[in-house]
Parts: sequence; structure tokens; C-alpha cells
Amino acid sequence: MIEDETGRLRELITIGIDSSRIRDFDLLMERILQSARDFVRCDAGSLYIKQEDRLLFSFTQNDTLSARLEPGRKLVYNTFSIPVNKNSLAGYAAMTGETLNIPDAYNLPGTLPFQIDKQYDRISGYRTSSILTVPLKTHTGKIIGVLQLINAMDKDRQVIPFDKAIEHYVNYFASQAAAALERAHLMRTIILRMISMAELRDPKETGNHVNRVAGYSVEIYENWAGKRGISAGETERNRDVLRMAAMLHDVGKVAISDLILKKPARLAVDEYEIMKQHTVAGARLFNDPASDLDEAAKDVALNHHECFDGTGYPGHVDISTGEPLPGHADSEGKPTPKRGEEIPLFGRIVAIADVYDALSSVRVYKEAWDESRVLDEMRNGSGRHFDPEIIEAFFSVLPSIKAVAGRYERG
Ligand code: C2E
Ligand code: SIN
Ligand code: SIN
Ligand code: FE
Ligand code: FE
Repeated sequence: MIEDETGRLRELITIGIDSSRIRDFDLLMERILQSARDFVRCDAGSLYIKQEDRLLFSFTQNDTLSARLEPGRKLVYNTFSIPVNKNSLAGYAAMTGETLNIPDAYNLPGTLPFQIDKQYDRISGYRTSSILTVPLKTHTGKIIGVLQLINAMDKDRQVIPFDKAIEHYVNYFASQAAAALERAHLMRTIILRMISMAELRDPKETGNHVNRVAGYSVEIYENWAGKRGISAGETERNRDVLRMAAMLHDVGKVAISDLILKKPARLAVDEYEIMKQHTVAGARLFNDPASDLDEAAKDVALNHHECFDGTGYPGHVDISTGEPLPGHADSEGKPTPKRGEEIPLFGRIVAIADVYDALSSVRVYKEAWDESRVLDEMRNGSGRHFDPEIIEAFFSVLPSIKAVAGRYERG
């Protein structure tokens, strides 16, 4: 029992650390539900996220129903919302902050003022029996949602009630999950606000462009990481951070004048020099990295216009001053160039994603190029503008990249 307890605690702590590193909200929900279900061993579960006075049914997993699907299919579910009140299990938990451990859903204790809605079971052919409903409460006592675990199972996958003794572990887990979700939500809110600020400034940086560049970057990274033998865990963490960072690649354009940003023609040399400052301006927003995400966002903003052969910009600059870093001034007092692996990986990846999208799209200053011309340009850039190894990854995942482009169509 003691052995078991220590093992359990260690597992909980690892889960806590792990999920606090994942910052993308959707992925975080998936991880939380999966970890909770693995931990208590149960067949199904759902997450509700609180929005004002309602609970949004946000995510669900069900092993039994998933197993009935054809291979490769995913469980489809509707999102709906229910009020936070005593008329449902999740609403009750969110309202009272109580954990409810129900051995049989079709036979609720008389103390609860409602019955389970059997509609879902009727439609899906599922039989909900035991339910553990836990409020997601942060350490300050704020309830941000509800975790619902369904059909605990014994070692032979027979449905049993949830063990009373497991409740306090699950409560602890729920508070960790609540904190991670709150952080992720805050981070996403800040990031989306920054992106929409950048969009306001630059009509070309629409949500679609930003989503495409992020989507391509992730596809390229995954392929590269696979070829390099990077572990699945590390790949997943980086994928998430890279997606957000890539969305922010041009956020420094908020610092560039409209006259330049929206000029419907080629830029003059001095205008282009000003435009180039969007890299340093963007990096400066994340100059005091407090998380992996800040670090990645800084790398991407600063380095997405560097070239593998050292012909890009801004080179070895001090982000806070824009001046050359010590020991990195050339004879004219300009920063020396960055080349090869001096350019951080995420910068080298987003460079490829950004140019591919710029060439394929209409810009105020150019037409969209046709595909063969775009691909020739990308191939020609290998070893010059682009890292050859990453260009190879880019071409390996071209079908996925086109799928991303289709999902976020060019305007
Ligand atoms: P952007 O439009 O997102 O372009 C990103 C990068 O794609 C460019 O970085 C460049 O490397 C590549 N690219 C885009 N169009 C072409 C093209 O026609 N030919 C080639 N070979 N490459 C292309 P770059 O040049 O550092 O520009 C950075 C940003 O500066 C651009 O982002 C755009 O916002 C702005 N910009 C650059 N040139 C002009 C221009 O002539 N007029 C205007 N209005 N803006 C420009
Ligand atoms: C968009 O549809 O995202 C804008 C087009 C562009 O990327 O230039
Ligand atoms: C641009 O049109 O974005 C400039 C591209 C270049 O000069 O290579
Ligand atoms: Fe840029
Ligand atoms: Fe861009």
C-alpha cells in the first residue's frame, strides 16, 4: 500500500509538471483527460469549461465507443453548454465545488435534485454506470470547469464504482489541471490579442496567413524531428510551442508605420531598412523569457528573416538596443550576419513556412505565384536562403502542407 502510494504520488507529480509545460489549450485538455483516465483507470470521460454562468462541454473521450469506429476514425461529439446550477451533475459540482462519486448513474442518491439525462446513452448505445464528477478548482478556489470520469474499470475491464480512496488524488489532480488550464487560457488570450493587434496594423497578416505559417511550421518540424530521432514527448511539447511562436512571427510589425506597411508597391531602400526592424521589435516583446513559449516566440520573431548563407537580417544584434552584440560589429559598425546553425531551429523552420506562404499568396506588392514557380524558388533557396535539411523536410511533407493551405484558404 505504501509502495503503491509513493508510486501514485510520483505519477501525479510528473503529470503535473508535464501538463504545465503544454500551453496549447486544446492539447492540454486532451492530455489532462487522458492522464486522469489512465490514473484512475476508467473507460470514458469529459471536460467542461466554465464560461460565465454556463459550462461548455469541451472535450470527451470514450474507449468503448472509439473501439467501435472504423480504424483511423475519431469520435465525433457535439459541443453544447449547460447552466451552472443544481439541475445536472456537472452543473452541481461547478456550483457547489463538491466532488460527486456516483456508483450507478441510473440510480442516483435521493439527495440529488435531478436524474441523469439518458438521451446520450440511448443515442450512442453506451451504458453510463459509475461517474466521478470533480470541479476543476484552482488553489485560489476559483472553479474553471468540471472533470467527469465515467465507468471505472477493474483489471478485467469490468465496470465498477469509483473507489472512495481515489477521490483525494483526483481532487489534487484536478487542482493541478485547473492551474495549467488557467495559465494556458491566459497565454492564449494574450497571444490572440497580440495577433489581432498585428492584424489590425497589417491587413495581409490575416488570421489565415498566421494559421497557415503556424500549420506549415509544425508539419515541417515533425518531419525533421522524426528524421532526427527526437522523442515523441519532446516533439509534442515543441510542436505546441512552435505553433504559437510561429503565429507571432510578424507581431513586430505593430511597430512599423502604416505608410510602409500598406504601401501598394515595392519598398524603397530606406523603407525596407525600416521594415526590417519588425524582427527586433517583435523579439523585444519577449525579451524577458518567462517560459518556453516566450523563448520560442523571441527566436522566431528575431530570426525568421535570417538566411542560411548569412545574407539575411538582422544578424547578431542586441535586442534591447538594436545595435551589434559585443564582438559582432563589422568594419562599418553593422551587426555581423548569422549563418547556418547560428540561426535557431525555429527561425530556420518559420523562414521556410513564411516565404512559401508569401510566394503562394497575393500581396499588396505582388501577385500570387503558380505552384511550380514557388516550388522551384524553394528548391533553389536550399543552402542559400534555407537550411537544406529543413527544405528536405518541407518537400517530404508537401501534401500535408497543401492540406493546411486548404484548411486556411488564401483570401
Ligand atoms: P512578406 O510579404 O510576408 O514576405 C516574407 C518573405 O517572403 C520576404 O521577406 C521574402 O523573403 C519572401 N518573398 C515575398 N515575396 C517575394 C518575391 O516576390 N520574391 C522573392 N524572391 N521572395 C519573396 P522580406 O523580403 O525580408 O520582406 C519582409 C516583409 O517586408 C514582407 O513580408 C513584406 O511585409 C514587406 N515587404 C518586402 N518587400 C516589400 C515591398 O516591395 N512592398 C511592400 N509593401 N512590402 C514589402
Ligand atoms: C490571407 O488570406 O491570409 C492573406 C493573404 C496573404 O497571406 O497574403
Ligand atoms: C519582396 O518582394 O518581398 C522582396 C523579395 C526579395 O527582394 O527577395
Ligand atoms: Fe517577417
Ligand atoms: Fe509573414
